[in-house]
Amino acid sequence: MAGQAFEGNLRAQFEDIRLLHHLGVNIVWIMGSRPQISKALEKNNLTAEFSGLRRVTSSEQLDVIIDATNRQKTLLEAQFSASKTPVNITQGSFVVARPLGVLNGLDHLNTGVVRKINAPAIQDQLNANCIPLLTALNYSLTGDIFNCSTEEIAVETAVALKADKLIFLADSKDCEIEAGHLSLSQARALSDSKDSRLMKRALRACELGIERIHILDVSLDGALLQELYTREGVGILISNDDYYRIRAAELADIPDILSILEPLEDQGFLVARSREAIESQIHHYHLIEMDSKVVGCAALIPYQGCNHSAELSALAIHADYRQQSLGDQLLKHIEAQALNAHITDLFALTTQTTHWFVERGFELVDVDALPESRRAVYNAERNSKCLKKRLRA
Ligand SMILES: CC(C)(COP(=O)(O)OP(=O)(O)OC[C@H]1O[C@@H](n2cnc3c(N)ncnc32)[C@H](O)[C@@H]1OP(=O)(O)O)[C@@H](O)C(=O)NCCC(=O)NCCS
Repeated sequence: MAGQAFEGNLRAQFEDIRLLHHLGVNIVWIMGSRPQISKALEKNNLTAEFSGLRRVTSSEQLDVIIDATNRQKTLLEAQFSASKTPVNITQGSFVVARPLGVLNGLDHLNTGVVRKINAPAIQDQLNANCIPLLTALNYSLTGDIFNCSTEEIAVETAVALKADKLIFLADSKDCEIEAGHLSLSQARALSDSKDSRLMKRALRACELGIERIHILDVSLDGALLQELYTREGVGILISNDDYYRIRAAELADIPDILSILEPLEDQGFLVARSREAIESQIHHYHLIEMDSKVVGCAALIPYQGCNHSAELSALAIHADYRQQSLGDQLLKHIEAQALNAHITDLFALTTQTTHWFVERGFELVDVDALPESRRAVYNAERNSKCLKKRLRA
């Protein structure tokens, strides 16, 4: 877990980290201090010089960085001690550093890179029920001190330990990408377009075999538990397996939506919808993608004159992608969207899928239960069954 040690914001996560630790989750803490270091350098009238993503560290700056890092570390240890069930934070020679050296003629002085992660030493601490703490300051075999990128340390450590997950607790501005699941190829595309430092590191970790990389907004209370223990999560998840992603539909998606709906309309599963009808309601559609391919859709259509009810409509999963709970995921997503819009009664009309809905908490209701505006256009000839689900937050 790599955390920017924002003194205020990080506090939102301490209780969750403590809880995860006591539940037996092995946590390695890589403490980022970039904002604190920048502030300390500024206070000492030392200009931070960057070459690309790297800070060039002079010996004068290194002294300030040592002070700032030690202060952060002390604050962090104090936070973890403030409980009847304190958490043991341990330090050690977990990282061997080497100088970054001269790049394009620029001497990076005391800026270092990871030479080796001492995975057995970290594992010993985990086995002893401690949280090993790693910082930006690390030592070379010659006994020199180097200022390293904590994101690089986080990636290298996760790889060396064969970690299940790497979690970046990041500043809100690093989480501006819409939350959700991204496959490796989607993350690559985003990283190219957004030039995000964290996204680049996350991609690197993914390419080196870490299966799940999460980027969470550190200021979001409960973010860790929600991300780890709810299916939807609250952050950005990058995974190197085929993973689904749900997103709002756009006009450009209409050909994909039609290609999913039309065969089902022909088979009588769904009522026929024209391109124009979908176009006028596109802002109500949501799509599910597997590795960038649209494989399903659903729409949440509000009812006129009845703002606590809405209809789940056009729910469909491409025949090649059924039986993987994607329909379930879309339904959950639509229900969450409905709750956000203060909708309490979700209706669905179907001719052949009644049991699927009933098994997911819907109950059969009479056509009369539909809001009036919907009842007025109910197609008696099609004779669809009406189902209703009372949504609870
Ligand atoms: C209904 C639908 C969206 C489910 O998608 P999915 O991703 O395959 O669903 P899940 O993986 O979440 O669930 C699969 C389960 O649903 C069951 N199921 C699939 N179609 C069903 C149906 N018509 N009636 C009852 N159960 C059904 C499967 O047997 C399976 O159950 P099992 O795991 O016990 O074997 C998909 O089958 C579909 O697109 N159907 C055609 C369109 C449609 O009828 N839409 C609803 C009207 S709006």
